[in-house]
Amino acid sequence: MRPKGLLITIDGPAGAGKSTVAKKLAQKLGYLYLDTGAMYRVVALAAKRLGLDFQDEERLGELAKTLDFKLVPRENGVSVFLGEEDVSQAIRTPEIDRLSSVVARVPGVREALKTRQQAIGKEGGVIAEGRDMGSVVFPDAEIKFFITASLEARARRRYKEQKQKGLNISFEEVLTNLRERDERDSKREVAPLVIPEGAIIIDTSELSPEQVLDMVLKEIEKVKKDG
Ligand code: DC
Repeated sequence: MRPKGLLITIDGPAGAGKSTVAKKLAQKLGYLYLDTGAMYRVVALAAKRLGLDFQDEERLGELAKTLDFKLVPRENGVSVFLGEEDVSQAIRTPEIDRLSSVVARVPGVREALKTRQQAIGKEGGVIAEGRDMGSVVFPDAEIKFFITASLEARARRRYKEQKQKGLNISFEEVLTNLRERDERDSKREVAPLVIPEGAIIIDTSELSPEQVLDMVLKEIEKVKKDG
């Protein structure tokens, strides 16, 4: 085992319930929750504010490399700072949902963020959540999960969340946004969303968050016992 505990990866498509289980798991095990989606989101927000051209891969890569941001662990998740500004809410809008999956296609952005992610994860005691955690960033993680659900189930959950936030968006728009994001995340050339080798697959379409957490904890116990 690594000095600070296991390195556990959780990958899967948007809206499958990854963050819910990752946060709960981190809390339960006393591990650090590494929200790598938040990193792509903060790069997208900064690029938008700077008025960068989203086709300009060189500038986007440079931005990801030099951007002054940090993820601060909180009891239930993370707060995200861009410089001194708390942008935790600003990075969770439908526009940043879309722009983050656009910047995530840029090889220079992925490379810069991978370096930061590996520095945080290498000693263990981390729940690393994203799209390429088990496949590219931490291929030697002790336990890998792939959390998925049907497009309809994911859209229903996102729709509910966005309504609770007071956003004026239709179910069809949520469904279309998710479908487009799935397309971009799965079809890009660098580090596309794939099921990592050796990953435990959990389909959450018909499961409650508690049931998912329970299944994940059981798998971790098995690995701890065998390892
Ligand atoms: O998990 P999320 O919805 O916060 O992620 C935002 C976007 O970032 C998502 O569309 C894909 C991208 N992403 C990625 O390409 N690789 C990761 N490890 C995490 C997120």
